[in-house]
Amino acid sequence: MSTLRVEQLDDRVVVTLRRPEARNAINAAMIGELHDVCASLEQQPRLLLITGDGGTFAAGADIGELRERGRDQALQGINSRLFDRIAKLPLPTVAAVDGYALGGGAELTYACDVRLASPSAVFGNPEPGLGILAAAGACWRLRELVGGSVAKQVLLAGRRLDADEALRFGLVTEVVPAGDLLKRAHALLDRMARSGPLALRLTKLVADGAGHPLTDDLAQAILFESEDKRVRMDAFLAGGRS
Ligand code: COA
Repeated sequence: MSTLRVEQLDDRVVVTLRRPEARNAINAAMIGELHDVCASLEQQPRLLLITGDGGTFAAGADIGELRERGRDQALQGINSRLFDRIAKLPLPTVAAVDGYALGGGAELTYACDVRLASPSAVFGNPEPGLGILAAAGACWRLRELVGGSVAKQVLLAGRRLDADEALRFGLVTEVVPAGDLLKRAHALLDRMARSGPLALRLTKLVADGAGHPLTDDLAQAILFESEDKRVRMDAFLAGGRS
């Protein structure tokens, strides 16, 4: 991989965005490599942690490439299809954000299930300043995450959210010193990994809004039949706590 560092662990994959010459801006090569990571996680579901190298998460889509794209490339949804694929990965995804997460970089974090930040994290969508739309999820995911009023301030008024504001608006779950960011992210993933994997997978599917309440009932029907449920509930009733 030329734009990512990828660590494959038993229960999780850790991806570090790495284009130091361009503040980890997301170019076509990075898109392709992130699709490869998705393919591997779809085949063998595991948790995903995404972070950025060198004190930046990602400074957006690569502006040099964006400048050359026309209508046909926009209609291909180059970034939005990748971020949708990430959002739909079977098991939870976490973004650990140190420094700038702007434009497509911010949208990549919005597509993850949970975000943690260092004090230097900055989220923003400056796309209209470049004469384009934030078309890879910000226009609807950010509203879901922080509400319409704050989302419009970010999208229409160029407001950047620093780490404390991101915490206050619920965009990130916690703010931790940069040196502890990955450790805290792994602790969160450890907590997730202790859940029943099928239960976690189905919870994500249902929580992401597929047809309530039918899907909830279907998911619960599968889980009620599982050996994992019996073992976990027997352990609870016998006095074990996780
Ligand atoms: N696409 C392509 N290259 C980018 C980039 C992007 N989104 N963001 C930064 N870079 C490049 C810069 O052109 C520069 O390259 P150079 O060293 O060859 O001149 C290098 O990364 C370092 O960027 P620089 O602006 O000097 O770093 P900085 O620390 O002063 O500022 C940012 C960091 C993130 C505030 C600033 O780079 C920035 O505003 N980037 C664009 C953000 C944006 O509009 N994103 C939305 C894109 S849709």
